[in-house]
Amino acid sequence: MSTDSSPIIVTSALPYANGPLHLGHLAGAYLTADFFVRYHRLKGEDVLFICGSDEHGVPITIAAEKEGVTPQDIVDRYHEWNKDTFQKMGISFDYYGRTSSAVHRETSQEIFTELYEKGFFKLKSEELFYDESTQMFLPDRYVKGECPNCGYGEAYGDQCEKCGNSLNPTELINPISALSGKTPVRKETQHWYMPLGEMQDKLESWIKTREHWKPNVMGQIKSWLQEGLNDRAATRDLNWGVPVPLEGADGKVLYVWFEAPIGYISATKEWAQQSNNPEAWKNYWKNDEAKLYHFIGKDNIVFHCIMFPIVLMEHGNFILPENVPANEFLNLEGKKLSTSRGWAVWLHDYLEHFEADYLRYALGVTLPESKDSDFSWKDFQNRVNNELVAVFGNFVNRASSFIEKYADSMVPPLVDPQPIDVEMLRAIDTQRQKIEFAYEHFRFREVVQEGMQLARLANKYFTDTEPWKTRKTNETACFNSLHVSIQVVAALSVIMEPILPESMKMLRYQIGLSDSTKWSEISSSMLTVGQSLQAATLLFQKIEDESIQLELDKLQDSLKDLSTESNVDYPVLKSPIQFDDFLSLDLRVGVIVEVEEVPKSNKLLAFKVDIGVETRTILSGIKKHVDKDTVIGQKVTVVCNLESRTIMGIESQGMIVMAESPEGRLHFVESQAEKGSILS
Ligand code: 2FM
Ligand code: ZN
Repeated sequence: MSTDSSPIIVTSALPYANGPLHLGHLAGAYLTADFFVRYHRLKGEDVLFICGSDEHGVPITIAAEKEGVTPQDIVDRYHEWNKDTFQKMGISFDYYGRTSSAVHRETSQEIFTELYEKGFFKLKSEELFYDESTQMFLPDRYVKGECPNCGYGEAYGDQCEKCGNSLNPTELINPISALSGKTPVRKETQHWYMPLGEMQDKLESWIKTREHWKPNVMGQIKSWLQEGLNDRAATRDLNWGVPVPLEGADGKVLYVWFEAPIGYISATKEWAQQSNNPEAWKNYWKNDEAKLYHFIGKDNIVFHCIMFPIVLMEHGNFILPENVPANEFLNLEGKKLSTSRGWAVWLHDYLEHFEADYLRYALGVTLPESKDSDFSWKDFQNRVNNELVAVFGNFVNRASSFIEKYADSMVPPLVDPQPIDVEMLRAIDTQRQKIEFAYEHFRFREVVQEGMQLARLANKYFTDTEPWKTRKTNETACFNSLHVSIQVVAALSVIMEPILPESMKMLRYQIGLSDSTKWSEISSSMLTVGQSLQAATLLFQKIEDESIQLELDKLQDSLKDLSTESNVDYPVLKSPIQFDDFLSLDLRVGVIVEVEEVPKSNKLLAFKVDIGVETRTILSGIKKHVDKDTVIGQKVTVVCNLESRTIMGIESQGMIVMAESPEGRLHFVESQAEKGSILS
């Protein structure tokens, strides 16, 4: 595309091709990048969106060893799978490469050689861990042991997942080989190191020009710099990776974190070749006018803000990032997301049950932009039902079906508009400006919220102008409110495109707005009077409780019992409440006097609980957690002033408090006090 604006290149972290994608991936590095790219495309800018699979490194070889297949089998499988999942999630990469490609091998070897020839690397001889039984050196995650900082017993050679500190394998206490479980020996080897320490001053001068970066990113960079940068090896003794292009370096490959970021450049080259313009990649990487944005999760900050910029600076022929808007982490149902514990929502699985746009929206409003945030299925359901369906969809549906019924499916005229109409039309521009500001400051939650705010204002406008009444009493006023409403619908179909690409495409089709409509065309008169509209169809569908319950059950069922002392993931603490909030709860000790199955439910039991003053019927979804035959006489804690709810035709009058253990089992909260005692 040729425009007058500076070229923009956006990269999202290359995910390891050693497993499928989950919610945390999406919220970390991909969704915000896609919002940003789609926005800039709408503005008609020259923007290129690059990503691909990270196919080297120890995570891949370990996955292969676990399954007893080759690393190539692993990356072939997950590369295709992840590419497909991204596409179904609406993540609109211009090119999705892979670091096992020939172009990537050549590019990273070339960059390594150029740096080598400039004398950048320091060759160091050192003794590293070696597994004699497998005759292999043990870089990074191939060694496990006790963390020297926090004592965690399962720390990896490159990082302790408990305290987050990055480590060198030789720092581990009581190291063992992850391959054989045996104690490794130390063996002499040679590696080429990046002298990060010597580059610190130069890097700091550049970082000083980046003060506008997000505080969470700057905070991490400054803390690394304060500790002082250490040299880091750019090579490894492994047989899977990009071979070190030097004589005498047999059996050595480039360190994955040296070559993976170069993958952004190689993928751009491949994109250029595919576009039959092989030199076009230079327009993005070797052009001082171009702007480079890396979208990543917070665990990648050091590599993208310190290590890769140093490589780029020293190489001297590439641009440096304009910004690195890293996100924090996403928790799941109040607990740390963990694939090894089975506490994750897989995107391919999500896509079998729900629309991509629903997740894009729900995650968009709760993104971990400046601090960790939480995804819960209930919140997801509420966002879809109460916002997408009840506000946005409802408004669009009201406006379109009124026009269909009362204005012959054509955009009605605007005649002598009243202040309420003018104000509504003005809101299009006000919201557009707020959203532009939010994009420019990488505040994507705000982008989504302000978009929905326009729909909310419009829904209220429709209610306030009461076209169902004016239709009979004042046709001009009725047409005015339909005209204004459909113009807002048109504006929304462009404003919300980056967030809800599929649904907005459908919406633009319904109102006859071209897919090539640009951001600059957003206005209060995007549709012409008399223009025909297609029959209205529902944009969003309500999500029923059962579908959400299925997802919650699935999550519990997939939870693996890994609850050893050392790796318990305690849920994130909730925000503080006022003492009065606590006092408003009526908690009492009760005794279970009866229990029955609930017909057609495989989760619920119906209890009769004597709370002293009376006996209550309480339904609880704990069937698989308790033994029904032994609970009579059990003392429990009851929330007595919870509004009653009818579930499966039975009125439940309160709630039995349960304690959930880290592996997801539910237990009664017992008491020594007699029945009827009040908890305070
Ligand atoms: O953390 C990760 O999943 C890495 N595979 C990200 C690599 S980003 C880039 F440098 F390639
Ligand atoms: Zn630790």
